[in-house]
Amino acid sequence: MLYQLTKAAHLVSLFVWIGGMVAVALALRYPALIHMKPLKGYDRAITTPAMILALSFGIWLGVQGGWFTSAWLGMKILLVLTLCGLHGALVGKLRRATSQSPEEFAPSGPILLPAGLLLMTLIILLVTTKP
Ligand code: HEM
Repeated sequence: MLYQLTKAAHLVSLFVWIGGMVAVALALRYPALIHMKPLKGYDRAITTPAMILALSFGIWLGVQGGWFTSAWLGMKILLVLTLCGLHGALVGKLRRATSQSPEEFAPSGPILLPAGLLLMTLIILLVTTKP
């Protein structure tokens, strides 16, 4: 039961984390539509803590299930670290965007959203198929 509850917590925090990343990627792509400053606060208060929780619950699942000797988890962790790097890149761009005036700011990061979605797909394929 504890394992299932940890998995549920892992998935809920993942949804919140990935949702926050998608919002930032869209804001950078279509800056006229979205105010950047509230998004920066949202990232700090919600998205980044959700990322930390998702990783912590994932590690806890790995410990409970004795998965850390499995190759799929090693590959998954490499991809997860890349996804964390992508989150860092998005937040860096968001910070720069909030310090610029709207006229100076040009849409950016066209590949960040597809790259994030591709990484997420690969991670989910790894965990569901466990090659
Ligand atoms: C430090 C990072 C992470 C670790 C150590 C980790 C570890 C785990 C473990 C051990 C499981 C349980 C597998 C099972 O019971 O079959 C799991 C489930 C899952 N993880 Fe992660 N995870 C991490 C991050 C992520 C990320 C970033 C994503 C998605 C982008 C993700 C998606 C999933 C999904 C969808 C499941 C449920 C799979 C299923 O029940 O079939 N995980 N994770």
